Amino acid sequence: MSYEVKNEQLRKWVEEVAALCQPASIYWCDGSQEEYDRLCTQLVESGTFRKLNQEKRPNSYLAWSDPSDVARVEDRTFICSLTKQDAGPTNNWVQPKEMKKTLTGLFKGCMRGRTMYVIPFSMGPLGSPIAKIGVEISDSPYVAVNMKIMTRMGKKVVDVLGDGEFVPCLHSVGAPLEPGQKDVPWPCNKEKYIVHFPEERAIWSFGSGYGGNALLGKKCLALRIASKQGKDEGWLAEHMLILGVESPTGEKTYVGGAFPSACGKTNFAMLIPPKPIQDKGWKVTTLGDDIAWIKPGPDGQVYAINPEYGYFGVAPGTNTKTNPNAMASCSKNTIFTNVALTPDGDVWWEGMSDELPAKLTDWQGQEWTPGCGRNAAHPNSRFTAPASQCPSIDPDWENPKGVPMSAFIFGGRRKDTVPLVYQAFNWNFGVYLAATLGSETTAAAVGATGNVRRDPFAMLPFCGYHMADYFGHWLQFGRSVPKPPRIFSVNWFRKDANGKFIWPGYGDNMRVLKWIVERVQGKAAAVESPLGWMPRYEDMDWEGLDMTREKFNELTSVDRDVWQNELIAHDELFVKIYDRLPKEFLHMRELITSSLWRSPEHWEQINPFVEGYND
Ligand code: GTP
Ligand code: SPV
Ligand code: MN
Repeated sequence: MSYEVKNEQLRKWVEEVAALCQPASIYWCDGSQEEYDRLCTQLVESGTFRKLNQEKRPNSYLAWSDPSDVARVEDRTFICSLTKQDAGPTNNWVQPKEMKKTLTGLFKGCMRGRTMYVIPFSMGPLGSPIAKIGVEISDSPYVAVNMKIMTRMGKKVVDVLGDGEFVPCLHSVGAPLEPGQKDVPWPCNKEKYIVHFPEERAIWSFGSGYGGNALLGKKCLALRIASKQGKDEGWLAEHMLILGVESPTGEKTYVGGAFPSACGKTNFAMLIPPKPIQDKGWKVTTLGDDIAWIKPGPDGQVYAINPEYGYFGVAPGTNTKTNPNAMASCSKNTIFTNVALTPDGDVWWEGMSDELPAKLTDWQGQEWTPGCGRNAAHPNSRFTAPASQCPSIDPDWENPKGVPMSAFIFGGRRKDTVPLVYQAFNWNFGVYLAATLGSETTAAAVGATGNVRRDPFAMLPFCGYHMADYFGHWLQFGRSVPKPPRIFSVNWFRKDANGKFIWPGYGDNMRVLKWIVERVQGKAAAVESPLGWMPRYEDMDWEGLDMTREKFNELTSVDRDVWQNELIAHDELFVKIYDRLPKEFLHMRELITSSLWRSPEHWEQINPFVEGYND
């Protein structure tokens, strides 16, 4: 031990784990820059990392994973609560004792020949009353250096911890090294287990080195375990970005946005408004891009913090036009995973530039040329970058009190059905719209992509307890908070008959955000639709964008026949979790159906732009 560890329970746990996993050595991470540089150098020597061109990408590295270990593994992720009922039908469950037995078997001797890293970390500002301390034990130095960027990590955490409680997070890539055996660049195991014990507040992860499966502070602790804690204690842990909007009057409005994995949180959080809107005095600042912890404050408002310290962002599609702030964030001191390598030692990915490089080395180490028929970067390739490097970072991003939230936005990837934006009639309808959120699956999880599934609150893969209890918790939260945020639905991904996105997205999402902020401030108009309050063409700011009324109608139409099918899809989820479904939900679905059946003349009168009621 290179520093003093007072916490007896921590010392004891480390000893127990070492006895089980039998590592060659134990190393306590101190979190220093010197340590980070040393581990990175070591990762270069072992072939996991490649140091990138120091001029083009200072202090940055590239890792290529095993081709079988590129994303979260939802079917290998378990919520092992004491009873199956508490995990609910949307989570995999195994009886905790049985799972411990299986895992103990797998972990036995699994670190042979490797160093066991002890990684103390804090989710949330160090020492703040809302922060949670975890300690990850991992046999992956890749995990150790990523945790240094993604969390506040090291000795200072152990000092703050004192005798206090921590969440034990045990991780192994599950690839022991026998004497004389040469290591591979990305060790992992075919068998994978990402396991949570919500009551015990413990995490065991085996077999994968990929971010969401291995950086246990993020999805495992800050969402799955924290969501359960939030349920028990009256707060929320959400898959949400947090941003601030400064309006021309100087008023600051904070907004949370929950979109499923790879559906635009990082991009929305770092949004730069179009020039004409900037010129009117609008500005957006970034607080977080993936996770929010939300608590009621003493003044009746709700406050949110970002428990993370860095971004684990999707690379493909990111460029200096779509997201200059992300490009700046990963311009130095960054770890890239599964992107392509340029001949001059820099990185490239699909969508980084209009012009394709003549030659690359792809994420699997093979030569790549334009038209070779393969992706140069994996669709779920990522950058790990310090949050502090984001040019739009909000001055309050580390404020332990958090920031007061005025709006929650929910959005998925829907090529049809869901309109550009609407505001829920009230909190309950907002909870309903979030609970029935549908989205096309993405490369962020292993499995088929592009299939619409229900992803309630963008939390389907991250809720640590019964999804219907989670809905109930949200309803209860709204009842108990005097000034709850307004709730909105958005969809940036509607496509035309040729399969092209109708909405320009990215910076132009500011036009929707501006309407949302003005709604919250009581300044913007809206009309009633069957789903909620919607802007008319004239209620939004189109300066600098060629947006016709016809195109706007296409983006915002609510079609009765299409929505009848959508409501049936809602029911499929409700039936699945019927045993604990809040009674309100069935009534709200009926109210929406009833609104859809109002006469076409009714909607034409109050809502002339809404198409689909004319037939
Ligand atoms: P996770 O980190 O997986 O939770 O994802 P995220 O929600 O932060 O998604 P991110 O912002 O990284 O975006 C994922 C992909 O969607 C990227 O390829 C983006 O370029 C693309 N994307 C983001 N915003 C928009 C948008 O407004 N319109 C379109 N068409 N694509 C977008
Ligand atoms: C997601 O999949 O939602 C991510 C990436 O943010 S991971 O941290 O791998 O879960
Ligand atoms: Mn995410």
